[in-house]
Amino acid sequence: MYTSWFALGISLVGGALASPVERSPSVHCSTIPLNGAQYLYLHNNTKNPTSLPGIESNYTLSNALAAIGSSASPGDNPLVLINSFPFQGDNFGFEACNSTYMKFPSYDKPDGRNRWYGHIRAYGDPPGGVNHPVLCVTRRWVEPGHEFLTAEACSYADDSSQETQFFTIVELQTGFEIANYYLGMIGAPEGTWSKQYYFAPGTTAAPAITVHPEEDTGHRLGIEYLHFN
Ligand SMILES: *[C@@H]1O[C@H](CO)[C@@H](O)[C@H](O)[C@H]1NC(C)=O
Ligand SMILES: *[C@@H]1O[C@H](CO)[C@@H](O)[C@H](O)[C@H]1NC(C)=O
Ligand SMILES: *[C@@H]1O[C@H](CO)[C@@H](O)[C@H](O)[C@H]1NC(C)=O
Repeated sequence: MYTSWFALGISLVGGALASPVERSPSVHCSTIPLNGAQYLYLHNNTKNPTSLPGIESNYTLSNALAAIGSSASPGDNPLVLINSFPFQGDNFGFEACNSTYMKFPSYDKPDGRNRWYGHIRAYGDPPGGVNHPVLCVTRRWVEPGHEFLTAEACSYADDSSQETQFFTIVELQTGFEIANYYLGMIGAPEGTWSKQYYFAPGTTAAPAITVHPEEDTGHRLGIEYLHFN
């Protein structure tokens, strides 16, 4: 898995060098400490957690579309978040960002809870390892009714590209070996209307995590500390 991340990095760097230098303004982001929380989760009200999303270097959008019998184009065929297992490439983090386009502050503290706005970083495997290119959890619309969470190159352009990668993270609980944060998708700049986005775990046959606009799936997305042994 490590080798394939490296190869992916090389090919993307090559592509970047070949294109002209962008002059658009940039968002400024910095990784926030999460008290050891590193696993994404999807909880439902009766089973906790329902799913631990992860990425695998060989599971991409074309696999996800094939699994649901869709013939839609996977485009540049990004990695897709799938139901995964602990310690199989599921490490995530959060970077708070200042975006003039999105208008949200990178940090605030409403009703006593720490809250940030920015990107969910997908680190993959090895745990805590550096990923090339830098990947962010992204909402990827493919066709009506088929929308996925993918891991794609993070955008640092201060423009509408932020709309598919901007999330809010709210601190719910922290303590000794406790770290629990809620994650919500921000669909549009502050002060403008946005759909509400919900998420659902995949199945054994179609493990991709799916996105459901305006349809409450009964699941909550978050990131937490998990102790396994
Ligand atoms: C965003 O800008 C504010 C005000 O300049 C600054 O205090 C904060 O550290 C910045 N946050 C990030 C993530 O760059
Ligand atoms: C990806 O690799 C894993 C581990 O080698 C394997 O179990 C899985 O079937 C592969 N998935 C696909 C879609 O090729
Ligand atoms: C939550 O999980 C339980 C147990 O697996 C399942 O029966 C129930 O349908 C799930 N609820 C939702 C909203 O998916």
